[in-house]
Amino acid sequence: TLSPADYKVADISLAAAGRHQIRLAEFEMPGLMSLREEYRDSQPLAGARIAGSLHMTVQTAVLIETLTALGAEVRWASCNIFSTQDEAAAAVVVGSGTPENPQGVPVFAWKGESLEDYWWTAQQILTWPGAAEDPGKGANMILDDGGDATMLVHKGAEFEAAGAVPDTTDAESEEGAVFLAVLRESLKQDKQKWTRIAAQIHGVTEETTTGVHRLYQLAAEGKLLFPAINVNDSVTKSKFDNKYGIRHSLPDGLMRATDVLLGGKVAVVCGYGDVGKGAAEALRGQGSRVIVTEIDPICALQAAMDGYQVARLESVISQGDIFITTTGGLGIISAADMLKMKNKAIVGNVGHFDNEIDMAGLAKIDGVEKVEIKPQVHEWVFAKGTDTERSIIVLSEGRLLNLGNATGHPSFVMSNSFTNQVIAQVEIFTKAGTAKTGSGEYGKDVYVLPKILDEKVARLHLAALGVELTELTAEQAAYLDLDPAGPYKPGHYRY
Ligand code: NAI
Repeated sequence: TLSPADYKVADISLAAAGRHQIRLAEFEMPGLMSLREEYRDSQPLAGARIAGSLHMTVQTAVLIETLTALGAEVRWASCNIFSTQDEAAAAVVVGSGTPENPQGVPVFAWKGESLEDYWWTAQQILTWPGAAEDPGKGANMILDDGGDATMLVHKGAEFEAAGAVPDTTDAESEEGAVFLAVLRESLKQDKQKWTRIAAQIHGVTEETTTGVHRLYQLAAEGKLLFPAINVNDSVTKSKFDNKYGIRHSLPDGLMRATDVLLGGKVAVVCGYGDVGKGAAEALRGQGSRVIVTEIDPICALQAAMDGYQVARLESVISQGDIFITTTGGLGIISAADMLKMKNKAIVGNVGHFDNEIDMAGLAKIDGVEKVEIKPQVHEWVFAKGTDTERSIIVLSEGRLLNLGNATGHPSFVMSNSFTNQVIAQVEIFTKAGTAKTGSGEYGKDVYVLPKILDEKVARLHLAALGVELTELTAEQAAYLDLDPAGPYKPGHYRY
């Protein structure tokens, strides 16, 4: 078992409760469980030391124990201050006593971290015992969600090369300021820490749209330090998790937070990408009248064809009962917008970062008062004590509400996402070579998994749903010029 210095969770006594939930989740995660079977003997991740930064939920516990079942050593943090399920974190630390997780895995995550805590946990997953003396004992893989762990290594190495961390400007968010302070301190203590860590990393596998966006930016600027696999754009990830996952976990979060009846309400969904499509469908399914906002004419037309009103936010700001941002962009709902909303309007975000809603601007409104209804549910009161007193409800302080107010996506859909993650980890670890040598099949670029593996992920989830898949006959395959075993579509097919 781990010593208390090797982990930090809210309450280790929750482990038994977490283990029950993990056991049930395993039943709903057939993709991960079949990878355990497939790779039990060959142990393709033996020697991998994975720094994982992804919401520390029950489903993630099954992912972690699949990585360790394939031979990896793992250290884990959450990629969001509110998303940890404390019982899952405790169970992973205690271990299962089975070959998947005999000793316990170091986890640094609890629900309700401060920003300082958050960046401390991010450092813990990249700081391995013995690595200060021998860099070869440090992390050699990153599994990321949103790109913060990858950014820590990249910015750390960049500032070490420059010999200084830039000054914090006024425009910097609180989050950015905390991040820079962490790196300033690190540079004071060790001028080469992140450079050494970066040199050991074989590569990163990235879970979400926002993190993938950051990776393509780094690659375009020629700054990417190691190969990356874009897990998000596996079809069996973004067209499933982002859409069907949010279709489940958005109403779950809204209901747990507010218990408000969604039927009959006007719900405004900002963004009609994969997440927006799932959000809009879920709210319509509950009887809400859904209005979509979009900047992309294709997505706007899709929303219209799907039967939604498409409007600008300013046109509908005083009509909405519920506002949900799903864009991955910034400044979608401003403080001025929130002042125009109906009394008790509910505002929440399911895009990756909290800058979709101007929380800083909200706090600066003259005379505004913040009342905690319960953790992650806050009433913001405007014009208190006047005739025009009214308030809005903001969920999870503008951060991912499906994880802050509920428990995120359900196991079955996460099995699709995480099966891609495990396959991507095996792919990079066994084929990329280290960043130092640069040899291997993957260069310093961003890749998606081959379609045949994407199809494999889907295939692993069919039996559990009783799906009967039709097989191409030899004649049909020849006619379509396909291998009967796949892949069945060209790379540009959109599903
Ligand atoms: P996407 O790129 O498919 O969709 C985003 C849409 O927002 C695009 O269609 C874009 O045109 C639109 N948009 C951008 N700026 C806008 C603006 N100012 N007003 C209205 N629409 C605007 O991306 P996807 O996959 O839907 O992901 C969206 C965000 O959700 C990302 O940050 C991603 O990381 C995150 N995400 C969150 C999950 C969760 O569990 N909460 C799960 C998966 C992804």
